[in-house]
Amino acid sequence: MLKAVIPAAGVGTRLLPVTKVVPKEILPLVDRPSLQYVIEEAAASGIRDVALVVSPGKKALVDYFRPAPKLEGWLRGKGKTELAGQLEALARLARVSSVLQRRPLGLGHAVLCAEKFVGRHPFAVMLPDDIFDAPVPCLAEMVRLWDRFHAPVISLAEVKREEVSSYGIVRARRVSSRVVRIEDMVEKPRPEHAPSCLGIVGRYVLPPEVFPAIRATRPGWGGEIQLTDGLRALLRRGPVYGLVHRGRRLDMGSRAGLVVASAYFALKRKDLAPEVRKGLKALLGVRA
Ligand code: G1P
Repeated sequence: MLKAVIPAAGVGTRLLPVTKVVPKEILPLVDRPSLQYVIEEAAASGIRDVALVVSPGKKALVDYFRPAPKLEGWLRGKGKTELAGQLEALARLARVSSVLQRRPLGLGHAVLCAEKFVGRHPFAVMLPDDIFDAPVPCLAEMVRLWDRFHAPVISLAEVKREEVSSYGIVRARRVSSRVVRIEDMVEKPRPEHAPSCLGIVGRYVLPPEVFPAIRATRPGWGGEIQLTDGLRALLRRGPVYGLVHRGRRLDMGSRAGLVVASAYFALKRKDLAPEVRKGLKALLGVRA
């Protein structure tokens, strides 16, 4: 069974000032932290062991996924069994632990910090800024591709030409309608240098050989050790596949993305949507 690594050591600069005291991964989409959606995707993809790569101030992130027997007992005493059950289920989702990234040296470096946790096995990397809403979890599909090819699999999506400089961008050859074989990749190119508009979107299934490959890379974009550069080195040793994701993708990393994602999940909830619609309409005169 694969383990998952979730890099979560960032300062959350784009969401300051709230991230001064609240890690961005705990910011809620309705009533659950965005990180929970990512760990639910891992669990739905058959992954039970998750390590969060955190900076020294963010160790408390794992507390959210720990059992809370006192709170559950108190809720049961008050007759709130459904809520207590929800909390229990949350703690059963996955075994969530943390590994420390002492200095912010880049995404590749963050993945390297989890080497001991992963061991000599294939594993998943999930970037928590990217949240997918799809009937079949993106990662579950990627795990199936791993089982078929035994080669690295990266999730991709078509992005706008003017946005390529926010992504790792690949050059690829189509294998089937949604699967491509990656021929090259570059981290955050300028639009005029981008080999395509197929961007890397936050899910990876990787072999343990990626660790020495990352260790051998020099600092790249932004002076940081980039995962994209480590993966580029893997391309020289064998095939690397991409799965083109066509479902809904929400970006938790920006202010507008956070608001849109909250509204999206609120409007999907039967227990909330009518009230949220009514409230927005009353305030803004808009129909959601
Ligand atoms: C990271 C990766 C980049 C990828 C992106 C997806 O960049 O380095 O290749 O396209 O995530 O969200 P970041 O957004 O962390 O700067």
